Amino acid sequence: MTIVRARRSASDMPLIAAATGRVPARRPVWFMRQAGRSLPEYRAIRADRGMLESCFDPELVCEITMQPVRRHDTDAAILFSDIVVPLKAAGVDLDIVPGTGPVIASPIRTAADVAALPRLEPEAVGAVTAAIGLLLEELPPTVSLIGFAGAPFTLASYLIEGGPSRTYEHTKAMMLAEPDLWHALMGRLADLTIAFLRAQIAAGVDAVQLFDSWAGTLSESAYEAFVAPHSTRVMAEIEQFGVPRIHFGVGTGELLGAMTRVGTDVIGVDWRTPLDVAAERVGRSVAIQGNLDPTVLLAGPEAVRRELTRIIAEGDRAVAAGTPGHIVNLGHGVLPNTDADAITHAVELIHTL
Ligand code: CP3
Repeated sequence: MTIVRARRSASDMPLIAAATGRVPARRPVWFMRQAGRSLPEYRAIRADRGMLESCFDPELVCEITMQPVRRHDTDAAILFSDIVVPLKAAGVDLDIVPGTGPVIASPIRTAADVAALPRLEPEAVGAVTAAIGLLLEELPPTVSLIGFAGAPFTLASYLIEGGPSRTYEHTKAMMLAEPDLWHALMGRLADLTIAFLRAQIAAGVDAVQLFDSWAGTLSESAYEAFVAPHSTRVMAEIEQFGVPRIHFGVGTGELLGAMTRVGTDVIGVDWRTPLDVAAERVGRSVAIQGNLDPTVLLAGPEAVRRELTRIIAEGDRAVAAGTPGHIVNLGHGVLPNTDADAITHAVELIHTL
């Protein structure tokens, strides 16, 4: 007997509807970092495997990506991976240290370091594209698969600092003191980001998110001069494939206009900026995504209901005034000690409010 699978079609997906100015069949929601340590089944399956090793195991990537969709009934799955996966695949010596984040063996500081940065061949991320193939077989037809990449600035900050940073001092020093070197590095990282996103789109993801998580450390003028040209090139290269693009950063209230102008279909908003205010700042030209403070999920059901009611009202107000759509999400990732049931209840509430 031949099993005819329901073909996945973007027109059946609430997330894609909201991203492209159509009315969704239900209010779409997913959570950044929905796959991860908040889930007991994730902690169990990751117990004896390293983070990076897991990202290159297609069956494991598929399983971990599916876990939050099964448990919470979210409207999207985000590919389980990391922004440093394409760097690792290209041959950069780095690790993801639990509780810390990406750590680079030899930080990039000189012209010779930039010249030595390897290029990403699409075959090097074959495990990621294989995982996408498995996911397309398993995901329900209405659930979107989101691929992603780190934006050039956020990747550069890890490569230059050597790991996470509070001040981004080496990054900003290179930007201001050695602009030619800076732009050479950003150009190479834009190439890498484009290659990684193209591979995911060719493999069949329904939408992509560009994570410029740490861009909020910059002034608008620094962002425009040193970051926007490179992110613009990434977004322009991706546009031709017709999958909705989401652009996200933390603490970027002052950058929402600039981050929208680089070219996107959806702008991510954190909890510091009310959604209706954010929508106005971007001229109601693109859909909005956000923006529950992740700590609210630790504050009990009453606080979650109160905050979600407010956020949904602000999103509805923006849509009534002409914004193409609202995708409910957090303002940043799920905190690891969040109770998984609190997330399930939040999704239920969003689908019924
Ligand atoms: O569910 C999802 O959102 C998909 C998975 C995902 C991960 N990383 C898995 C991960 C995504 C989208 C990312 C992107 C990522 N990685 C970003 C951009 C998003 C953001 O949070 O702003 C950044 C800045 C990174 C770099 C990074 N990797 C950090 C800061 C950390 C956390 C360090 C820690 O242990 O707290 C990582 C590791 C990482 N990436 C984990 C997960 C689930 C934790 C590792 C583990 O579970 O052992």
